Amino acid sequence: MSFDLTTKQLDLKARARDLAAGIIANNAAEVDKSEQYPWDNVKALKEAGFMGMTIPTELGGPGLNFLDANLVVEEMASYCGPTGRIAVEANMGAISAVVHYGTETQKRLAADLVLDGDKPAICITEPEAGSAASQMTTRAEKRGDKYIINGKKHWITGGGVSRLHLIFARVFDERGSELGIGGFLAVRGESEGLKVGKREPTMGLRGIPETELIFENLEISEDMVLMPPSGFKRGFADLMNAYNSQRVGAGTVALGLAAGAYRNALNFSKEREQFGRPIAEFQGLQWMLADMSVQLEAARALLHKAALSAGHNGSPFPDPTLAAQGKIFTSEMALKVTTDALQVFGARGYSRNYPMERLARDARMFTIGGGTAQILRTVVASRILESKLPQTRDGYTKLAEIEAARTDLQAAE
Ligand code: FAD
Ligand code: COA
Repeated sequence: MSFDLTTKQLDLKARARDLAAGIIANNAAEVDKSEQYPWDNVKALKEAGFMGMTIPTELGGPGLNFLDANLVVEEMASYCGPTGRIAVEANMGAISAVVHYGTETQKRLAADLVLDGDKPAICITEPEAGSAASQMTTRAEKRGDKYIINGKKHWITGGGVSRLHLIFARVFDERGSELGIGGFLAVRGESEGLKVGKREPTMGLRGIPETELIFENLEISEDMVLMPPSGFKRGFADLMNAYNSQRVGAGTVALGLAAGAYRNALNFSKEREQFGRPIAEFQGLQWMLADMSVQLEAARALLHKAALSAGHNGSPFPDPTLAAQGKIFTSEMALKVTTDALQVFGARGYSRNYPMERLARDARMFTIGGGTAQILRTVVASRILESKLPQTRDGYTKLAEIEAARTDLQAAE
């Protein structure tokens, strides 16, 4: 696997950097302060061709790969976290699931929306099913040629601004038998029964709403079921497989935030003088900056490898283990790097007149959303040990079965 970027990729990265260092950087503080969705930035992303980069040419997109998209995401996030996240959701997650699993009609619908500036919402988490996502209770019940969805999601990124929604729900046939977990496509404004609930007041990433979504007899026609290759039975596994692209994207936003914080710290250290010389001349800070650069290079290499793993081993999506490893490493690296970079600014780092506290607040999210650092460690451990672990649903059930068998044996003795 080569880590050298091609000339085209270097050009793409340079183009993204120009845009990010211009309008995106200029708007960043105001986006955070106003907590308003950055429609101007979306317009700029759209005009630059950065919305729907991974959409194939036959659907009107440029047909770029996940690494290309992540190059753009990193640049955006290094100036504005929310804009980085918009670039993720316009290129990974729901849109990549539709591009790979959808029917022609679904692909056209999703491609047209995203290329026109929509950032789709992916709706998995419920109040009682966060890490244990497979225990969701939102129901999709078959009625003739429709599914009727009832339930509630929360922490949905883009609630109230996204148009396309990919909704995960437990599927039941007309006799009431459960078939598995499926994905359903709904367009806000066109589907009755999709209601946007309350918005969370968040610590960071304030330019994008995180809201509840309430489904009240939401009718989805059969042709808007996103059917993964092995049907509903393994629908959850297949949909989560597509979600690995978004995990790499989320890791890349964390990388961008850390890279932006490092860039600011490096520049500031050359300008700020104390004891009659630039603070960059103090070894204590030099080693902090060196450590930051090491962490950034390592994180970038891991994420690029994860992004490039898509298309190998028979899957169009990044390898699940690499995606989890990349997000764990980068999200934790970003906590350290944004905090250390803030330290380089002294009191100014703590001021809302400088970007450092915003970058640190924004970075704090990435060990939580999209699979917590603990859950992703479980994903990695279960794959390297090739086993269901006690802390997962099946592992827990297996342990309970063993315990029950032991109790029966003891009773029989
Ligand atoms: P819980 O699952 O309740 O976990 C609480 C704590 O317990 C965590 O520290 C967790 O790591 C730990 N824990 C849980 N189980 C285990 C275990 N087996 N072993 C060890 N530790 C464990 N969801 C969506 O569907 N769509 C979105 O667009 C979306 N966007 C989000 C945006 C933001 C900003 C945030 C913060 C969240 C978003 N989420 C979204 C939800 C996110 O995916 C969940 O928050 C996440 O999966 C964790 O679920 P939870 O918050 O319910 O925590
Ligand atoms: N990529 C590919 N396959 C995946 C996957 C992923 N990211 N996550 C789960 N699967 C597959 C599993 O391999 C398993 O397949 P198997 O039956 O062949 O072993 C199947 O899906 C069920 O997963 P399992 O780990 O057995 O389920 P669980 O009920 O114990 O739950 C998860 C664990 C998957 C829900 C948990 O690891 C997880 O990812 N939680 C975070 C949810 C999240 O990221 N939400 C983000 C919302 S934006």
